Amino acid sequence: MERTLVIVKPDGVQRALVGEIIKRFESRGLRIAGMKLMRISRETAEQHYAEHKGKGFYDGTVAYMTSAPVVVLCLEGPDAVAAVRATVGATNPLNAAAGTIRGDFGLNISRNLIHAADKPETAVRELALYFSEADMISYERAADKWLKE
Ligand code: CDP
Ligand code: MG
Repeated sequence: MERTLVIVKPDGVQRALVGEIIKRFESRGLRIAGMKLMRISRETAEQHYAEHKGKGFYDGTVAYMTSAPVVVLCLEGPDAVAAVRATVGATNPLNAAAGTIRGDFGLNISRNLIHAADKPETAVRELALYFSEADMISYERAADKWLKE
């Protein structure tokens, strides 16, 4: 069992795609272990995107992520990090396959609707930026036994 961080970015909230985006993860079998609407602070956005500091898109990305409310999610499931990244699609929506969230709803790399942690270690680090341990709840659903062998 693995946990990962997903953020419905400000454009996803403003375009009223929160339900549509969460539905895709739920339908795939991932379980919501944490969820909240929040406004990301500048400090948190800078920590989150620290690996990109110095790149041309860094300032714009921090400004975008802090510009309006977001929905942050902790999703849980077997290989959740890889499953979520595949559901999200390539960073540039123009290259994202149809059927992925970015491929179905995006046109611009700087307005790509959603963030998802890229590796299990990244997920642990990023979840700690947005959730306390008590905010993340593990539980069993009746259907979970039908999602694995
Ligand atoms: O989000 P993802 O992990 O797929 O991509 P990234 O390479 O880690 O970049 C982080 C975020 O920076 C992207 O999701 C975009 O919001 C933004 N970005 C951008 O605006 N322009 C770029 N050329 C690259 C990234
Ligand atoms: Mg990334």
